Amino acid sequence: MIISLYNIKGGVGKTSTSINLVSVASKKGKTLLWDLDIQGASSYFFNKKPKKRYIFQKPIEKIIKSTQYENIDIIPADIKLEKYKNEMKELLSILRNRYDFIIMDAPASLNALTRDLLKHSDIILVPVLPNILSLRTYNQILKTKLAKNIKLFVNGFENKPAHKKIIQTILKLPKSQYLKTYIPKSDLIESMPFEKMSVVERFPESREAKVYEKMFEEII
Ligand SMILES: Nc1ncnc2c1ncn2[C@@H]1O[C@H](COP(=O)(O)OP(=O)(O)OP(=O)(O)O)[C@@H](O)[C@H]1O
Ligand SMILES: [Mg+2]
Repeated sequence: MIISLYNIKGGVGKTSTSINLVSVASKKGKTLLWDLDIQGASSYFFNKKPKKRYIFQKPIEKIIKSTQYENIDIIPADIKLEKYKNEMKELLSILRNRYDFIIMDAPASLNALTRDLLKHSDIILVPVLPNILSLRTYNQILKTKLAKNIKLFVNGFENKPAHKKIIQTILKLPKSQYLKTYIPKSDLIESMPFEKMSVVERFPESREAKVYEKMFEEII
């Protein structure tokens, strides 16, 4: 199953959600994290630096790296991905046979690479911050008509009237367009880069870890 975290907006929680969902998925099956963002933020969590080698021209054994976790492999960020033409489908069909779960951490852009990601993922998860302008970007992505299965979810929820209003607005959308699970604004999530570890891994009993588990159940 290919799960992609995508939004044209930056800083909305694509990477933090990817990292946590990877941890949850790895308890259920063989999991690959593919860092498609040249910033390499999710690679950082697994001590991998962005590479300069156009991965689509390399043998698969050279591009996939193992991690300190038995069930997690990673394709680290690749700076040369700027050259991307349209080779993703072929590579994904090979990866599908090797992994139960492939989680893609996407960059905040709409280009040839992310268009193919939208086309070839089984599900696109769009993190949105709890405000109206953030919801608008979901509609912009929907309008590309590239993805079959594309759901928004709220990240950074605080228990206050303005955020509750956004949840009410979302609940009026067609059920196929959103996840019921929403992620709270949380110091544990914000501190993840210090720990270099997902909340799910570092604090498995926390409320936040339970939320990511619930989200994963809702997806699969
Ligand atoms: N639920 C949350 N609670 C508190 N802080 C959060 C939460 N989600 C994300 N953050 C923080 O917000 C910032 C942006 O999150 P993240 O890097 O996951 O977003 P992104 O969409 O991947 O950004 P980019 O577009 O730059 O790749 C980070 O500093 C992260 O720690
Ligand atoms: Mg990111």
